Amino acid sequence: MKPLIQKLTETFSPSGYETAIREVIRKEIKPLADEIRVDALGNLIARKGKKTAKGLRIMLAAHMDEIGLMATHIDDNGFIRFTGIGGIRPLALTGSRVRFVNGVPGVISTDRITDLTKAPTLEQCFIDVGAASKKDCPVKVGDVCGFERPFLDLGRRLVAKSMDDRIACAILIEAMRAMKGSPHELYFVFTTQEEVGVRGATTSAFGIDPDLGLAVDVTGTGDTPKGSKMEVGLGKGPAVKVKDAGMLADPRVVQWMIRTAEKAKIPYQREVLEGGSTDARAIQLARGGVPAGCLSIPCRYVHTPSEMVDYEDVQNAVKLLTALLRAPVTL
Ligand code: CO
Ligand code: ZN
Repeated sequence: MKPLIQKLTETFSPSGYETAIREVIRKEIKPLADEIRVDALGNLIARKGKKTAKGLRIMLAAHMDEIGLMATHIDDNGFIRFTGIGGIRPLALTGSRVRFVNGVPGVISTDRITDLTKAPTLEQCFIDVGAASKKDCPVKVGDVCGFERPFLDLGRRLVAKSMDDRIACAILIEAMRAMKGSPHELYFVFTTQEEVGVRGATTSAFGIDPDLGLAVDVTGTGDTPKGSKMEVGLGKGPAVKVKDAGMLADPRVVQWMIRTAEKAKIPYQREVLEGGSTDARAIQLARGGVPAGCLSIPCRYVHTPSEMVDYEDVQNAVKLLTALLRAPVTL
């Protein structure tokens, strides 16, 4: 899976500008789907199979957008001020490199910081694309960029920008490849605009009207020095979400996931995330409500240009997702 993960994470597609990543994923899934369509918000929706007497209509969601920045002001000397697209951490910005959707690269620095004990604010940061003046600057107000950082293979641990949530895009693609003879009508949805408020999942869940929904997304960990008090750690298996800041996973879905993992002898962890949410929230609240849960990939340094996952967790997530979708579901 590593070449696929590299290809997905090295593509630039901040929220609202998912054209590039959509085309990369479309190519991968074309031979694997029965039907592919794109809705008005740009969600890539792939159907596999038809509902049988024993089957459900199931929606799987992995968001293909990534956090990024948008130019708000260009000064006379060609320096670019910006705002965040999604949850940007100023602490992780200084020294970062970015690439605009139109291909222009740049570096981030800050105004002179007098108090070095404090992290800079977003207002103190700017992008330098090497322009000498406003006229000379190839970036216009409203232009969008993502972080520039090559994929890094550390063996078992993998690092990249946009592991959130391209790692789940890779998992969905691999599950599609492995899926044979499911009784369900499966919708593999590569959603847009998750990072700005699960917007793509909102419209795609309404359109699909699923009987059951599952998001696949990254979650935080508590296994780094003086990290947060969180039980999830890298390498201990994919996590079954019980709760995050935006949703209480349906307890029947949680139990179904745990039962399946235990039966298939796949390691798993129970996840309670105190901040953040996922596409599963939008699915759960679609129309009259949908039983929904989330399969989480433990990830360190989320929303920085160097997000780290464990390759065995990733492979076990594919196994668990495949096991979940292969058999009839009784909630
Ligand atoms: Co995110
Ligand atoms: Zn995410």
